[in-house]
This record gives sequence, structure tokens and C-alpha cells, in this order.
Amino acid sequence: MNEKWGKLIEFIKNREENKDHIFWMARQAKPYRGTIALMLLFEILSLMLSLLSTFVSKTVVDRATSARLDAKYVAIMAGASLLSIAFSTVFRIFNDYVNENFSFGLRCKMFSGIQSSVWQKLIRFHSGDIVTRLTSDIYGISSGILTIVPNTIVTAMQLTIAFFILFHYDHELAVFALVIGPLGGLISLTLMPKYKVYQTRLKESESAYRAFMQESLSNITVVKTFRLEEENNRRMEEFRQDRLKTTLSAAKLGTVIHSLMRLFYSFGYILAFCWGAYRISTGKITYGTLTLFISLVSQVQGSLSRLSKVLPQFYSMVICSKRIREVTDLENEQFSGREGVPKQIGIRMDHVNFAYNVKPVLNDVTLEIKPGERVGIVGASGAGKTTLIRLLLALITPQSGTLTYVTEDGLQPVEPDSRRFISYVPQGNTLLAGTIEQNLRNGNANATEEELWTVLKASGAYDFVRNLPDGLDTELAEHATGISEGQAQRLSIARALLKKLPLLILDEATSALDEQTEAKVLDGISKYTDRTCMFITHRRSMLRYCDKVLELSEDGYVTMRTLDHSNEE
Ligand SMILES: Nc1ncnc2c1ncn2[C@@H]1O[C@H](COP(=O)(O)OP(=O)(O)O)[C@@H](O)[C@H]1O
Ligand SMILES: [Mg+2]
Repeated sequence: MNEKWGKLIEFIKNREENKDHIFWMARQAKPYRGTIALMLLFEILSLMLSLLSTFVSKTVVDRATSARLDAKYVAIMAGASLLSIAFSTVFRIFNDYVNENFSFGLRCKMFSGIQSSVWQKLIRFHSGDIVTRLTSDIYGISSGILTIVPNTIVTAMQLTIAFFILFHYDHELAVFALVIGPLGGLISLTLMPKYKVYQTRLKESESAYRAFMQESLSNITVVKTFRLEEENNRRMEEFRQDRLKTTLSAAKLGTVIHSLMRLFYSFGYILAFCWGAYRISTGKITYGTLTLFISLVSQVQGSLSRLSKVLPQFYSMVICSKRIREVTDLENEQFSGREGVPKQIGIRMDHVNFAYNVKPVLNDVTLEIKPGERVGIVGASGAGKTTLIRLLLALITPQSGTLTYVTEDGLQPVEPDSRRFISYVPQGNTLLAGTIEQNLRNGNANATEEELWTVLKASGAYDFVRNLPDGLDTELAEHATGISEGQAQRLSIARALLKKLPLLILDEATSALDEQTEAKVLDGISKYTDRTCMFITHRRSMLRYCDKVLELSEDGYVTMRTLDHSNEE
């Protein structure tokens, strides 16, 4: 019991955090407040009409008991009921529409924000986890707001009106009903902390199993060749059992909360009924008033029952909000807004130090690359070659030291905006699903077909694309399945060349090629362009295409030498 109270106290202490999430969600809903208000209007109209119908029913019964059935009142009653149904139908349609508009609007906004988060912070999350937060959690918030807001407002109105009508006819009964309601709510509040724990667990496991499925499907070759199918099936079954257990516990608790509240209301209903019967027997009220009582009480019951779902839903929304903000509150990249692409780019690094964690990856790196120079980067695997490139792309920032680009218009700091003048071929397979032409056009959407073939020639991909039955229209599957890795690398290079930017960076972009093809590609690139080039390679023989070599040692030190090719034949 003590533990339970402890949890409740902690829960109440969390109200600052809850408040923060409520404000955040309210801010997200703000652009949609017009449509939400309109939707609410239909729900309120529906409520008013159903109250009117209830009210008229009293007159109908009263007149009937004195043997006067009045068709006019019956017609009003029926008309009001019908209209009430019509408005509530419009409300439902509107609700679906507003929900999609709101959730997708929020999704677009959050997705856009996540894309501009700092790279190093973002990569800590699994993409499957982020996608779950952007789909399921965002939907949880929008549908929650669109249930809670109308439910609370409409129920509050209904309760107030019903209370005054009841009060008008019978003071004691109205006050009695007023006391019963909050009592039920109070009891369910003590059960809430546990409910919140279950909801959090369910959300986390949703992220986990989605990430797992995405990972497995995206690496289906590994799954098949390592015979991981059975193991994967077992993992999925584990997820299933775990979710079933939590869902069952949450459902049980939810039902207990709900039933407790129902119990109170039923008790109230019976009391109201007996009280009414007693008042009739003493001749204080008419049969019509009793009818009014009973249908008011049952209406109030209906709305209180909807209200009892508000609290669980509210906490589930707070959890969604928390999860979404974990990824959208990541630090954003700072853009300076600098524009224009210089013709010439040189690079200066001055005493640069960088570590991902504690172990230094780059130690006191000082170097200079002049515009138009070709620089080969060599070093053992894990020495820090890719890290050096990430610094130049401003994906990461050094702990100390400065990085500068030297342009014909003066010096510019290395910053996220610098990416506008860098053509980069990342390590690994980076082609997208689509045709070869579509992939190339990601480099330059307006390139002519002649330009496409020119870059394909320069990157050594011309012959193989020519020989494909569908040529440029060849469809590539996810991860460029369907062509060889070396072919994919050459297409990635072609895509980068098409961008025609003054700094070209290749990160092991020729690693899958045989020596002869690699030489051909590097030769093609040097002939195609005179821009500044940096390329990482594992073959020292390729340094013949370079003016300088940058060598990274295991302990993070960098040495740079100018190469002299004058003695070579
Ligand atoms: N995102 C990261 N977080 C932490 N450590 C990393 C990260 N990326 C690389 N490292 C570590 O930094 C070192 C250099 O990696 P990297 O620059 O990728 O080497 P390579 O020379 O093979 O390109 C390695 O020890 C690697 O384990
Ligand atoms: Mg690397």
C-alpha cells in the first residue's frame, strides 16, 4: 500500500512535467483551432437538441397523464432527436478529417525538424524507433486531443445544464448527484500511476519491434545466409508475449477504473429513481418530471462514462508527447544563411582535436589544401578518415581547433551551410530505390541526357549502363540490389560529378573496384574536373592521381606530403 501511495505522490509531483506537455500539445493544436472549434459546434448543437428532446418529453408525458396526447410536442421531440443525430453524424465525419489533417500536419512539421537535428545526436536513435514516434505517437496525440477536447467541453456543458434542470425540480437530488461524480473520479486517480507505467511499456515495445522488423527486412540477405529466420521468429514471439502480458494488465486495470466509476453512477441512478418514486408517491412531482429525471440521469451517466476515459487517454497522450519531444527537441543545426557557391575551394585545419567519446580520434591536426589540389587520404581502417570528412561536412564539430574554407571571396568557417559547395560520395551503398536516371538526377535535376552520359563516362560506368537492356531506365531496388557493388559505387560517383561543385569528396567510393577499374575511374575523374578533390583509398598505387597524400596514423596524428610524380614514366 505504501508503495502505491508513494507512486501517487510522485505522480502528483510530476504535474509540472504534465503541464509542460499539455502546453506543448496545445501549441501544436493551435493552427487547427478553427476547424476544431467548428467540429465542436456540431457536437454542442447535437447535445442541445437531445436536451431539448428530453425536456419536451416531460410535457408529452404530463399531457398524456391528463389524457391529452399532443401531436405537436411529439413532433418536436422526434424532430429534435433526428436533428441531433444529423449533427452528431457531421461531427464524426469532421472528426476523421480534422484528425488526419492535424496528425499529418504535425508529422510534416516534426519530420522537417528531425531532419535538421545535429547528426551526432540523431544517429543515436534507430530509424525504426523514430518512424514509430512519428506515426503512432503523433496519431495518439491528435486523436487524443480530438477526443478529450470535445468530450470534456461537451460533458461539462451537459453536466452543468442537467444539474440546473435537476436543481430546478429537486434541490436534494441535484446536490446528491454532484457529490457522487467526483468521488468516482478520485478513486480511479489512485490507480493511474500503474496505468501510466503499462502505457509507457507498450509504447517502448512498439518502437522496439518495429525497429527489429525494419532492420531484418532491410538486411534480408544477412537473415537468410546466417539462417536467422528461426531466431527472428522467436524474437517476434517474445515481443508478442510481452505485449500480450502488458496489454492484458493494462486492460484489466482500465476495466477496474471504468467499472468503479460505473458502479458509482449506477448507485446514483438507483437512488435517483427511488427518490423520484418517493416524490411521486407524496405527490410532490409529476410523472413527467420523473421521466425528465430518468432520462437526464441516464444522459449524465453516458457523458460521465465518456469522461472516465479521459484520464487514461490523457496520460497516454503525455507519454506520446514525451516520446515525440525526445526526438524533436534534439539540438538543431545552426545555419548561418551564407549563400553563393565559390569557384575555388581550399581547406585549412588548425590544431583540430576530435573525439566521439573519450578516446581521441584526431590529434592536433594542422594542414592546408590549396584550391584545385587532389588529395589522397590513406590510413588503416578505424584510423579516422571518415571522421576527418565528417568534420569538413560539419556533421560533427571539433572539441578544439578551427576549420576554414579558403575561397576567392575570402575565408569561410566550416559550417552546415558549407555543404552547398561539396559533392560527397559517402562510404557504403547510397543509391536510392528508383531508376538509374532518377538516381543521377538527384545530383542535378536539370542535366541533359548528354551530360548524364558524360559523367557516366568519367566515372567508368558508361559501358555497363549502355549494356543494360533498359539503360538509364533500369530500375534499382532498395540498396541498389540488381547491380554489383562496384557498379553502384561508380553510379554514386557519377551522381556526385553531376553536381559540379568546387569540392569533391570520395569516401572509399572505389573500394569495391579492382585495381584496374579503380585507376580508370580516378583517371576519368581527374580528366573530367579540375576542382579540389579528396579521396580515401586503400591502394597506395592510386596516389599517382594525387598532388598530395594525407596519412592518418592509428593514434590520430596526421601527416601530409606533397607528391612528386616527375620521375614516374
Ligand atoms: N559515430 C561514432 N560514434 C563513436 N565512435 C565512432 C563513430 N564513428 C566512428 N567512431 C570511431 O572513431 C574511429 C574512427 O572511425 P572512422 O573515422 O570511421 O575510421 P575510418 O578511418 O575507417 O574511416 C574508430 O575507432 C571508430 O570506432
Ligand atoms: Mg571510413
